[in-house]
Order: sequence, then structure tokens, then C-alpha cells
Amino acid sequence: MMPSLPPFAAPGPLVDVIAGARPNFMKIAPILRAIGQRQAAGSRLRYRLVHTGQHYDARMSGDFFQQLNIPEPDVNLEVGSGTQAEQTAAIMTRYEKLLLDARSQACLVVGDVTSTMACAIAAQKLGVPVAHVEAGIRSGDWSMPEEINRLVTDSITNWFFTTSEVANRNLLASGARPQSIFFVGNTMIDTLLSNLERLRPPDFWAGAGLQPGGYFVMTLHRPANVDDGEGFARLIDAVGRAVRGLPVVFPVHPRTAKTLAALPQRPAGLLTVDPQPYLEFNYLVRHAKGVITDSGGVTEETTVLGVPCVTLRNTTERPETVTIGTNELIGTDPSALEPALGRLFEGQWKKGAIPPLWDGRTGERIAEELDRLLAAT
Ligand code: UD1
Repeated sequence: MMPSLPPFAAPGPLVDVIAGARPNFMKIAPILRAIGQRQAAGSRLRYRLVHTGQHYDARMSGDFFQQLNIPEPDVNLEVGSGTQAEQTAAIMTRYEKLLLDARSQACLVVGDVTSTMACAIAAQKLGVPVAHVEAGIRSGDWSMPEEINRLVTDSITNWFFTTSEVANRNLLASGARPQSIFFVGNTMIDTLLSNLERLRPPDFWAGAGLQPGGYFVMTLHRPANVDDGEGFARLIDAVGRAVRGLPVVFPVHPRTAKTLAALPQRPAGLLTVDPQPYLEFNYLVRHAKGVITDSGGVTEETTVLGVPCVTLRNTTERPETVTIGTNELIGTDPSALEPALGRLFEGQWKKGAIPPLWDGRTGERIAEELDRLLAAT
């Protein structure tokens, strides 16, 4: 008779951790670390890191893996660029094949990028439960591809890991069961807090004569702000007027680079640089007089760093950065910039506070719940 294997020899539940685009990488790092810590303490939970390849440049992807000590992906689906539908289809097709070849017990997706939605659909259709980190946030603006991704993902999510009470309420209002919602906080903030001491100036810092509190940081990449050349030109002209001669460090996203290259002229004082690695970017933010952005994640980081932030959007899916934090939405009309920055120069910007559970322990809470949820499998 064959001897039966001791129970510890059985492999534990396998969760796919999906990452595809730049804003995913800082969100998965603390979760992977926390799973690793639980394994060291005897947990059987295992993960398979799946990079979809939506972002593939060193500057948009590789630098983040290296700086944040994220392990090499176990699988890279290498989908590359394309339209929304092309990327979605390629990710779904390749991830479905992976699951058919080697099934996991859960699929964990983070944020709101195309990879998030595409992997959630492929997994759920094969009966693999979906965990969504940063679930429940809503801008209400269906012109943003991210909002569609959030709506679709949350409509087929089994376990919702949330960053805010507003997200919890949104999910309950959409019919999610209370016991499937886990208010855990913000993994992006775990990464920020655990790297605060490692932040370092970019190599152009001294050469550009940058001084703490003596410059702005700007990031723009939303199609609504950067795809139309004339509108974009008006926007950066207005920035040039509103900053009262201070330099504006502008790490240029690949989408924005295309529009910028076609402009006949740029305002003086605009210091355009490549997309920055994590440690350099957040060093720049931490020491800036203020940040001008259309990103969502950046408004969370400025809130925790206590740096004034002006968001060039009409809506935000992260209202706590405005109601609690240092962020202010000024819309997309460039004429709103001068009065907003005027209040900053006059010392009238709100101080802000840190939202509940943005405390650096979110990855641990997620790993603990996953362990519990998957223990039976
Ligand atoms: C994506 C996310 C957005 C996120 C942003 C951060 C979606 C719908 N949008 O937008 O939520 O805030 O990432 O960066 O998922 N490109 C490169 N190199 C790369 C990756 C992309 O040159 O490594 C180029 C592509 O060819 C394309 C452009 O950048 O022309 C946009 O890339 P894409 O992945 O389509 O979306 P993002 O605008 O980056």
C-alpha cells in the first residue's frame, strides 16, 4: 500500500497576483511581502506573480520592480500596447490560457487599469474567485476607461478590499454583501511609508538648481488633458503663468510625450524629464511647493506627505484626498490654475490629515484575510 503523504506536503492555495501597469506595482509590493512573511511563519498560502506586459518599458515597469524589491514575475503575458479593446482581448486570451494550463485558487487584481478588468473577467468565467484591491471607488465619469474597469471588475468580484468608507458605501449601495467587503486601507501608502527613508533626489536635482519648497511637480496623462494638442498647449501655458517663475518638474508619460513633441513652443521654466523611478519621483513630490496633476494615485501620496495638490479634473474617485487630505479639484479649465496657486503662494492652503487605516499595515491585513478565505481550498 502507498504511504499517505503527511499533510504539510500538500501544496497550499495558490493566488494569482496580477500587475500590468505602473500604478499597480506599488500596490502589489506590500501584499507580496506580507504573503512572504506569513509563509515564513508557516502559512501555506502561495502566490504566482503575473505581469500582463501592459506597461513594458524600464521606466514604466522594470525600475519599479527593482526599486521596490518586487520579485521577477512568474509569468509575463507580454501583451504590449494597443487600443483598449485590443489590450483587453490579448490579456484575457493569454491569462485564460494560463489558468487552463495551471489553475489558481484565486485571482487578486489591484486598481483600475485594463489588466485589472481583463484578468478579473477571464478568472471569474473559469470559476476562479476574484479579489479586488482598491475596490468600490467611483468617479462617476464614464468617459474614463478606468471607471469602466472599476465598474466591470467590482460587478464580478468575490472579495472587496477597500481603501475608504466611501468605497464601502458605494459597494453596499451596488448590492455587495457586507461580509464580502474588507476595509483594509491603502497598499500604495504602505509602499510610501516603508520607502520614506530611501527616497532620493534624481540626478538632475543639483544641476537644475532645485531647492526644497522652490519648485512644482506636474504629471499629466489623462486623455482628456493631453490628447488634444491645442487644449494641452493652453493648459501648460496657464501653468507657466500660475507658478510665478518657479520651475515645474514635469516627468512626461509616454502618452503625453507624443502631444508635447508636436507643440511649437513650451513655457520657460518647464523642466521636462523622463518618467521617474519611484524613489526619485516621491522625493520630488515630498519636497515640492505643490503638485499639479491629473493622476489619482499621486493625490493619495501628496495627502500622506502633506504636500498641496491641485488636480486638473472635474471628478475624483478618491474624495477623501479632498475632504481629509491636501488635494483640491479645480476642473480642466486652465484659467482656474492662477487663483488656486495664488492661494497656495499666500499661505492659505489647507493642512490636511491622513485618512483612516492609511497606516502602512494594509498588505498584512490583506494577506491575513486571503489566508483565512482560502484556508478551506
Ligand atoms: C494606464 C492606465 C492608467 C494609469 C496609467 C499610468 C488604463 C486604462 N490606463 O494608462 O489608469 O494611470 O497607465 O501610467 O489601463 N507606452 C509606452 N511604454 C510603456 C507603456 C505604454 O511607451 O511601457 C505607451 C503606449 O504605447 C501608449 C501609451 O504609452 O501609446 C499609453 O499606454 P497605455 O497602457 O495604453 O495606457 P496609459 O495611458 O499608460
